[in-house]
Amino acid sequence: MYYPDELIEEVRMKSDIVDVISGYVKIQKKGSNHFGLCPFHNEKSPSFSVSQSKQMYYCFGCGAGGNVFTFIMEYENYSFQEAVKFLADRAGVNLPEAEYNEETRKREGRRARLLEVNKEAAKYFFYQLRGESGKGGLAYLSGRELSRETIRKFGLGFSNVSSDDLTRYLKSKGYEDKLIIEAGLASFDEKYGMHDKFWNRVMFPIQDINHRVIGFGGRVMGEAKPKYLNSPETMIFDKSRNLYGLNFARTSRADNIILCEGYMDVIAMHQAGFSQAAASLGTAFTSGQASLLKRYTQEVILAYDSDGAGVAAALRAIGILKEAGLTGKVLSLEPYKDPDEFIKNKGQEAFQERIAKAENSFFFELRMLERDFDLNDPESKTRFHREIARKLCGFGEEVERENYIEAVAQKYHIGFDNLRKLVLSCAARNGAASPAAKPKSGIRKKKDPEENKKKPQKLLLTWLVEEPYIYQKIKKYISPRDFTEDLYKKIAEKLFADLESGTVSPAAIISLFADEEQQREAASVFNTKLAPLSNRTEQEKAIHDIVVSVKRNSFEYFSSQPAADVLALNQVIEGKKALEELSKTHISLD
Ligand code: UTP
Ligand code: MN
Repeated sequence: MYYPDELIEEVRMKSDIVDVISGYVKIQKKGSNHFGLCPFHNEKSPSFSVSQSKQMYYCFGCGAGGNVFTFIMEYENYSFQEAVKFLADRAGVNLPEAEYNEETRKREGRRARLLEVNKEAAKYFFYQLRGESGKGGLAYLSGRELSRETIRKFGLGFSNVSSDDLTRYLKSKGYEDKLIIEAGLASFDEKYGMHDKFWNRVMFPIQDINHRVIGFGGRVMGEAKPKYLNSPETMIFDKSRNLYGLNFARTSRADNIILCEGYMDVIAMHQAGFSQAAASLGTAFTSGQASLLKRYTQEVILAYDSDGAGVAAALRAIGILKEAGLTGKVLSLEPYKDPDEFIKNKGQEAFQERIAKAENSFFFELRMLERDFDLNDPESKTRFHREIARKLCGFGEEVERENYIEAVAQKYHIGFDNLRKLVLSCAARNGAASPAAKPKSGIRKKKDPEENKKKPQKLLLTWLVEEPYIYQKIKKYISPRDFTEDLYKKIAEKLFADLESGTVSPAAIISLFADEEQQREAASVFNTKLAPLSNRTEQEKAIHDIVVSVKRNSFEYFSSQPAADVLALNQVIEGKKALEELSKTHISLD
């Protein structure tokens, strides 16, 4: 691990989980735990729990869980090392220069180097824009009415006409070709060698929510194609999980976020004082971006281009927002094309008015739907009404559905009772209103033989955490080596040692893993509720069966290993003995 274990443990102990999470989520004490609305999925009643005694959090709705580091990793989009650093700063713990081990150094080092090289490139572009060669770029941006202050705030820059000056600069700073290529800043060509990806463009650095440069968009200054050139996806640049401008928008005081399509739109809106604007990155809006937005707001106002493509994109985005449990509204920019042009022509106040008048996304959908029907033709009109009814069926919650039926009936001059009947008959045909979307579980549930091997291992660990006294009863049959899943073996090694010494610290065990997915899985071991068993006999039988399956799986696993492995051979012999003994033994829990 990157930092010494003791230090990680010190940071963890000085970062009380209730204290840290309270800074992000409203939680209330209920019994021995704190509860609140889960920040990682959409829900109306709180299933997100934080345990002060365990120093862990867990969501019973979506399975998100872990210790204080996991929380910061998930919430802030940090790696494990970054989360440790973040909490160390918060708790006032001094971290030494990182201690490297091969594997983490490679992964962490690569990420850090990519961030560094991007930052260096952004600095380079920034200075070029202000230099002699950047005059054209600066004139272009001024022509688009961006102020010096705005240009500085968004770190806009310029890539020169020369085809390898950035590469040469980066190399002079000690960055190697391979890294520069991996970052998407240059490519290599047999004939011409290294050449910059971006040249003669104004540059828009793309930042993550923590203001770190993860990629670039570069715009031509005239009409050439492509209009924008973007960095490819890299280890640090995931286009489906970042939004342009969100680093600023997330701290805006507005009670909505305005989602648009273009970099220039974001910038124009911020300049006009709408600092809640963000945009997707030249790709369609995704559910990953919706859940990112969900951390910061409940309402998203779509300010997509008013052309056909913009409307189609807005309709798709509405579905994604709905699925994430966000309220969607649609802002009309007519007669202008996009927010940038609207603001340029009509100004800030007119834009504010459009925000206030933004249309409920359901009505927007209906209005767009209406265009496909001829309302003067009774036949077509009826089909339109049926279509409306079908859409109304999509509201899983009765109150909401009724409210919409009422509003739609009024707006489209349909009798309330008639529309209601239509909705009911549609619901009856489709087997009642479609249920609300289920929260997506973070843990993929697999129904395969692998899962059947893992399950008993996990259950046994959960039992040991919940009822530590069981350890004394089973330790003669089971050792950490019997856990054939790497993750469980690692947990078992620490847990068995802790149980031996009598001090179990679940949150410390989670820190053994640097990977978020693994931390989440480890957390679920400590938060799984065991099925209530009414009496001792049932409990004893359950434990017996679990121990037998873990042992049998281990026996089968080691039997399939090459015979030359002495360790495996021992394990097989012992396993066989234990299995025979277990088949005759009753594990007493008294
Ligand atoms: P637009 O064509 O609407 O551009 O594309 P825009 O933001 O209004 O740009 P200006 O005002 O002409 O400068 C919207 C977004 O789609 C992506 C970019 O992210 C852009 O901001 N895009 C567009 C590309 O990635 N490549 C392109 O060639 C065009
Ligand atoms: Mn534009």
